[in-house]
Order: sequence, then structure tokens, then C-alpha cells
Amino acid sequence: MTTAGIVYRPRRLRATARMRRLVAENRLHAADLVLPLFVKEGITAPVPITSMPGQVQHTEATLRDAVAAAARAGLGGVMLFGIPAVRDAVGSQAEAPDGVLQRGIAIARAAVADVERETGRPGPVVMADTCLDEFTDHGHCGVLTPTGEVDNDATLERYAVMAVAQARAGADVVSPSGMMDGQVAVIRDALDDAGFTGVSILAYSAKYASPFYGPFREAVDSALQGDRRTYQMDAANGREGLREADLDLAEGADMVMVKPAGSYLDVLRGVADRSDVPVAAYQVSGEYAMIEAAAANGWIDRKASVLESVLGIKRAGADVVLTYWALEIAEWIA
Ligand code: PBG
Repeated sequence: MTTAGIVYRPRRLRATARMRRLVAENRLHAADLVLPLFVKEGITAPVPITSMPGQVQHTEATLRDAVAAAARAGLGGVMLFGIPAVRDAVGSQAEAPDGVLQRGIAIARAAVADVERETGRPGPVVMADTCLDEFTDHGHCGVLTPTGEVDNDATLERYAVMAVAQARAGADVVSPSGMMDGQVAVIRDALDDAGFTGVSILAYSAKYASPFYGPFREAVDSALQGDRRTYQMDAANGREGLREADLDLAEGADMVMVKPAGSYLDVLRGVADRSDVPVAAYQVSGEYAMIEAAAANGWIDRKASVLESVLGIKRAGADVVLTYWALEIAEWIA
């Protein structure tokens, strides 16, 4: 039997591992990965996060070690979240100069500097979450009006002060994640006024109200009352995500982000196609928990699933991926 009629045989490029490696359109690299880390005030040993197996709330000492490990692994960045000992209605600890997140930022910067001296290679960029939900007793991302609505413009004033406190503590990047209108512009103004023209803004531009943030609530000990749907986006809307990214670009965002990643790969592709600045995607706590849970049951191959999930995010257009597996992936691909 003749097969001469078959001109195109795509399988040729899949036939061997070396051929597949050569023709891979996308690759994971440690420098593209950002590791989210939690630092908690007032604990003397790290606290495991049950719904995120392998992740912990760090003490200041173990945060230093984790950032150093991220630096040695060649990660592109760390994203810090703080868990204060005391919360109040306006999230005062978010802007306190000695607040847990500010202290964590300073510790991370010092750890990065140490490893850079030791290795002679650039360490991870130190990023901080610029949002109030870890700091408010009601768990919302902003301050409330007397009737309990999240007050956009009053919240912007808090974000501005918080971003400057983070910059003063040494953050390379502040990351407004509260989905308040105008947040990037107000933060840019405040940073510039305070002399921090060199601090970048990674805007959580298209951030959707998602059940996949569930495990994050445990990670930051947050008991949210109510929901976030008056400020975070509706899962039904793709075009609106592109508009949010456009607005943040116009307001001066240095990088834009889509979050969660896995359920919004179309939005990610759309943002990547229109953005001239780097595009990030956040593979969130619930995405992590799902794969961990299925793998723990023996239902899926953990390593292959992790790698496929992150590669899919890169293929959809992310330059930078925030993932709780960043360190492990870096070890696998080293
Ligand atoms: C807001 C913030 C959240 C996450 C990152 N920044 C929580 C939220 O908006 O509800 C979620 C990250 C994750 O689930 O991994 N501070």
C-alpha cells in the first residue's frame, strides 16, 4: 500500500524527545515565575494552610528562608501577603510603617540582597499585595460606607497611603488587587509625590469574583462577610476584562494581570494581544488546591498536571505567572 498521498506528517516533529524539545513553542523558565508568600504576625513557627497542602503562613524567620530559597532557585519574583495580629474596620495595619507586610517586605529585600551577593545573579523582584482585605475586620478589600457598601473613593485614599508605606519598606512593585475604579492612577500619583518614581505598579486589572479564592481565605485568616461582586468582575464578562486592562494601562500600570488564570485564559489571550506592557496571570489558591486534592487521591499525575496547567497559562499569553508551585517547578526544570 502506498502512502505517497500523505504529504504532511505532523507526527514527525513529535517522534522523539529531542525533536519535541526543539520545536516547543513555549517553555517554562524560573525567571517567569512569581511565588506568593504569606507572613503572619505573632507566630513562632510556620502554620500549615490545610486547604493548600505544602503552603504555610510564615514567621519572619521562615519568610527570610523562603525568599532566599526563591532567590537561589532563580525565580523572577515573590508576591507578599501580610496577616496582621489585629484587624479593624479601616485596615490600619496595612499602612503602619511597622505593619506585618512592611516588615515582610524589608526582610524579603534583605534576603534577596544576601543571595545576590552570594550568587552574583539577580534575585527575585519583591512585590506586595496592595489591598485591604487581609487587614479589615469585615474582610472586604476597601473601607465601608455607613450602610456597609465598599466606598470606592475613600478606599483609594487608603491604597495610596498603603502603597507609599510598601515602597518605603522596599517593595520593588506594588500590586493593587482591590478592583477599585481609579486605583492605578491614584497610587501612581502618590508614589511619585513621595519620590518613588522608580516603584512599579502591577495592576490586577481583570480580577474576577471567584470561588477559586476559597483557600486564600484560610491562608490569610479572613472571614469575609458578604461577597465581592460589587467590585470584582462577573465571570460572564470577557470584553469587560479587556476594558479594565485598557483603563489600567491608561492610568500608568507597568504590568497588567488577569486573575484567576485557568478559567480566564480567553481574557488572558485578549489582554496579551492588546497590551504593550508585560502581562501576568495568577494561578490562584483554588486552582492549586484542585490539582493537589486530585493528585493526593491518585486521580491525576501531579507533576504532569502542574506543568500542563502553568504551560497553558503561558501559551495563552502570560509573560509572568504567579503560582504557588513556582519553587517546585523551578526545581523540576532546572
Ligand atoms: C486580595 C487578593 C486575593 C487574592 C490575591 N489578592 C483575595 C481576594 O481578592 O478575594 C487571592 C489569591 C489566591 O486565591 O490565591 N488581597
